[in-house]
Amino acid sequence: MKSNSFAVMMNLLGAVLLVAALVSCVANALTKSDFPAHFLFGASTSAYQVEGAAKEDGRKPSIWDTFAHAGNGGLYKGDGDIACDQYHKYKDDVKLMAKMGLDAYRFSISWSRLFSDGKGPINPEGLEYYNNLINELVSQGIQPHVTMYHWDLPQALEDEYGGWVSRKIIKDFTAYADVCFKEFGDRVKHWTTVNEGNVCSIGGYSEGLLPPQRCSSSSKVNCSKGNSSTEPYLVTHHMLLAHASAAKLYRTKYKAKQTGFIGFNLLVFGFVPLTNTSQDIIAAQRARDFYIGWFLNPFIFGEYPDSMKKNAGSRLPYFTTRESNLVKGSIDFLGINFYYAFSVKNNPKSLQKKDRDYTADMAVEAKLYTGNDTTTDEVPVIPWILEGLLQSLKNDYGNFPIYIHENGQQTRRNSSLDDWSRVKSMHEYIGSLQNMLRNGLNIKGYFVWSFLDVFELLGGYEASYGLYYIDLKDPTLRRQPKLSSVWYSNFLNNKTMDSKITMKIEKSSSISNTPLMRTAA
Ligand SMILES: *[C@@H]1O[C@H](CO)[C@@H](O)[C@H](O)[C@H]1NC(C)=O
Ligand SMILES: *[C@@H]1O[C@H](CO)[C@@H](O)[C@H](O)[C@H]1NC(C)=O
Ligand SMILES: *[C@@H]1O[C@H](CO)[C@@H](O)[C@H](O)[C@H]1NC(C)=O
Ligand SMILES: *[C@@H]1O[C@H](CO)[C@@H](O)[C@H](O)[C@H]1NC(C)=O
Ligand SMILES: *[C@@H]1O[C@H](CO)[C@@H](O)[C@H](O)[C@H]1NC(C)=O
Ligand SMILES: *[C@@H]1O[C@H](CO)[C@@H](O)[C@H](O)[C@H]1NC(C)=O
Repeated sequence: MKSNSFAVMMNLLGAVLLVAALVSCVANALTKSDFPAHFLFGASTSAYQVEGAAKEDGRKPSIWDTFAHAGNGGLYKGDGDIACDQYHKYKDDVKLMAKMGLDAYRFSISWSRLFSDGKGPINPEGLEYYNNLINELVSQGIQPHVTMYHWDLPQALEDEYGGWVSRKIIKDFTAYADVCFKEFGDRVKHWTTVNEGNVCSIGGYSEGLLPPQRCSSSSKVNCSKGNSSTEPYLVTHHMLLAHASAAKLYRTKYKAKQTGFIGFNLLVFGFVPLTNTSQDIIAAQRARDFYIGWFLNPFIFGEYPDSMKKNAGSRLPYFTTRESNLVKGSIDFLGINFYYAFSVKNNPKSLQKKDRDYTADMAVEAKLYTGNDTTTDEVPVIPWILEGLLQSLKNDYGNFPIYIHENGQQTRRNSSLDDWSRVKSMHEYIGSLQNMLRNGLNIKGYFVWSFLDVFELLGGYEASYGLYYIDLKDPTLRRQPKLSSVWYSNFLNNKTMDSKITMKIEKSSSISNTPLMRTAA
C-alpha cells in the first residue's frame, strides 16, 4: 500500500520535475561557492542503520541486534538485518554521493563486524569491507569521516562484563581503536570515537529505553537490571576515559605520520529559559551542563561541571589527577547532532526525591521549544537557536573546532518524494551557517542526517530523514531521489536550478542496484 503511492509518484516524474523547478525560484539562490573553500558538506549514516548483512561474513550481534530482535520496548518494529544493504551496495551508494557532490561521508564501523566478539582475532572479511568502502570513497574524492562507536557494542562484551558499566571497556575500546587507526588511518583523517555519548548513557542506563536497557526507575520501562542513580554517571566516565585513551594512542603512535584528527560526538539541544527569572536562567544553564558540560567540561577543563558535582554528589565519579590530565585536551574537535530545543523551568522539588536518577538530578522541567516555527514540521526549524547555543559554548569553553555531524528533518517514510519540509530545513540551516561563520564560529563542516532512509534507531522504518527513499518491498532496494537530494546536489554543484539541470540530475541519480537476495528473517 505504501509502495503503490510511490510507484505512482515515480511514474509521474514530470510532476517531480515541475516541483523541482519551483524550488529553484524560492530556495536555491545559495550555493556552495558562497562558503569558504575548506568548509565541508557531507551526509551521514551509521553501520547498524545502513549496512544490513547483519549475519554475514563473520559479523556477530551487537546490543542493537539483540534489542531490535527482542521487540525493543514497543518503540517501533523492525531491525537492521537488511536495512539499506549498503554492505553489498556500497559501490552504487558511493557513486550517488559522488554525483551529488558530497565532500565527505560520515559512517560508522560496526565493532562486531571487525571483531566478532569485540576482541581477539580481527575478522578478515570485516576488514576487507571497510577497506573497500574507504577506497571507493577516496577514489571519488570523498573524505571518509569515521565513527568508531555508534551505539552498537558487541553483544559478547555486554555478556562478558556488562560493557560500558565496567572499566574493562577502556582496554577493549582502545585495542579496537588501535586496529582502526592502523588499518584505515592512512586514508581516514577524521575519527570520532563515540556518537552521542550523552544519549548512550541517558537512554541506555537512566531511562532504559535504549540498549542495553538498564535502569531502576520504576516509572519508565521494566529493566531487569541497572541503577539509574549511578550507572549513567559511571558509563559516561568510562566513555570519557576510553575516548581519552584512544586519543592518546592516536597522538603518540599515529598522528605524526597520519596527520588526522580525533573527536567526540554529542546530541546537543538549545535550552531556552521559560521565564526571565534568575531561577529559570540558571536552570537552563544547568540543563546545558548536564547534557553537554558533562562531557565538554572534562574535555576542556579536566573535571565535571560544578552543578553536576553539587546535585549528583558522590554518585558522580571523580577523575584522578592522571585521568584528568588524560581527558583534558583529548578532543581535536567536537561533533554535534542538532535537532531540538527545550524550554526550561527550574524544578527544585525533584532534588527531594529518594534514589534520584540523572533526570531528577538535573532538577528542571523541560518541554519542546518550537520558537516561531508554526508549521507542522516534525523537527522545528530553529537555526538561530543553534547559533545561540554555539555562541554560548564559544564564550564558555573557547572556540574549538566543531563539525555539525547531524541535522535534518523527519518525515513519515511513506510520505511524498516531494519532501518540501526537508528542503526548507536544509535551506534555512545552510543559509544561517553563513552567518554563523561570519560571526566567528569555528564550524568546519555540515553533514545532513541522513544520506538514505535508514533504519532509524528511535523510529524504525516509520520515520525517515533520508535524501533518498528506499521502498522496502522493492527487492532491489533502489535508491529513489527525493526533492531534497536534488536541492542539495544543485547547491553542492554551484548550480542555481533550472528544469534542464534538474532533469539531468534526476536521470543521473537513478542508478540501478544489483538485486538483493532476501533471506527469511
Ligand atoms: C502512512 O502510514 C501511516 C501510519 O502507518 C498511515 O496512517 C498513513 O495513511 C500512511 N500514508 C500513506 C500515504 O500511505
Ligand atoms: C563550487 O565553487 C567553489 C568556489 O568557487 C569551488 O571551489 C568548487 O570547486 C565548485 N564546485 C563545483 C562542483 O563546481
Ligand atoms: C512491568 O512488568 C510488570 C510485571 O511483569 C507488568 O505488570 C507491567 O505492566 C510492566 N510495566 C511496563 C511499563 O511494561
Ligand atoms: C544504586 O546504587 C546506590 C549506590 O550504590 C545505592 O545506594 C542504591 O540503593 C542503588 N539503587 C538501586 C535501585 O539498586
Ligand atoms: C526576557 O528578556 C528579553 C530581553 O530583556 C526579552 O526580549 C524577552 O522577551 C524576555 N522573555 C520573557 C519570556 O519574558
Ligand atoms: C524567528 O525568530 C528568529 C529569532 O528572533 C528570527 O531570526 C527568524 O527570522 C524568525 N523566523 C521567522 C520565520 O519569522
